[in-house]
Amino acid sequence: MFKTVGVVGAGLMGSEIALVFALAGRRVKLNDTNPALLDESAKRLERVLQKGIDRGLYAEDAIEVVLPQIQFCPTLEDYSKCDLVVEAVFEDEEVKSAVFGELDRIVSDHCVIASNTSSISITTLASKVSEFRRTRFIGTHFFSPVSKMKLVEVIPGMDTDRAIIEDVMSECKDIGKTPIEVKDVVGFAVNRLLHAMMIEATRLVEEGVATPEDIDVACRLGLGHPIGPFQLMDATQLSLSLQVQEILSAAYGDRFKPRPIMKQMVGAGYNGKRSGRGWYKA
Ligand SMILES: NC(=O)c1ccc[n+]([C@@H]2O[C@H](COP(=O)([O-])OP(=O)(O)OC[C@H]3O[C@@H](n4cnc5c(N)ncnc54)[C@H](O)[C@@H]3O)[C@@H](O)[C@H]2O)c1
Repeated sequence: MFKTVGVVGAGLMGSEIALVFALAGRRVKLNDTNPALLDESAKRLERVLQKGIDRGLYAEDAIEVVLPQIQFCPTLEDYSKCDLVVEAVFEDEEVKSAVFGELDRIVSDHCVIASNTSSISITTLASKVSEFRRTRFIGTHFFSPVSKMKLVEVIPGMDTDRAIIEDVMSECKDIGKTPIEVKDVVGFAVNRLLHAMMIEATRLVEEGVATPEDIDVACRLGLGHPIGPFQLMDATQLSLSLQVQEILSAAYGDRFKPRPIMKQMVGAGYNGKRSGRGWYKA
């Protein structure tokens, strides 16, 4: 068990990753370079906890008990006390490399360092810390919203120790998640599955086989998915799906090539819910 857990990056993912560790009784430190985002994160987590209380998922006193377990930190200096640090900053190799360089200087020798990257190789990221630490470097790919989604893809790098993989898998179970071990390949397992389906769904629309609405119905009622691919693209922004498909097609070739209609929609600014129009009109 990791008693003190640090999270770097208090955005969409990092905030809720901090929350799930705090809910499991860990002491948590949450850092962001933008102090305003730390305040925003605290407010967001209070709302998530309140919703959970209203639904009977968390104890009535969860806000008073859980939130104080999270220390909001403007710098990483305090992270020397962490047993595990999960990085969840922007999906940018340079930004992540700078964070790992700083953590390498600060954290103790026993600390395990994990990255929540969705597309960068874990072995590449591990090379940003000292050689002796690479045995304690691993990928932990959480899914959004982290407080609800059970899965964690656990991705060992080339040098990760088997004992560290087991410790991290067991920690994921302790915090109420279901981990699966996945090889360090582009897209890991889930994004390859998801985008294969999204690309085929988009192709069906291009061919006029069915509407986006009907394909979403088909996935919900015929396949038992909680949400259809077009609703999901609208919720997470089409530009993000396009970006992931470009990364996957660079790695695997034409089978992940984004469909022309995706490029047209993103080019037109029909980027999903936040922009007021995507596959659906908001
Ligand atoms: N959004 C998703 O659905 C999802 C799912 C799985 C994995 N991921 C991965 O999780 C990571 C974070 O994604 P997100 O959606 O939470 O992004 P986000 O933009 O919501 O949050 C990133 C946060 O990192 C902070 N940050 C940037 N540089 C920093 C630094 N040097 N030190 C400390 N904080 C810094 C930013 O201020 C921001 O608050 C990415 O690697 C992403 O690929 C995202």
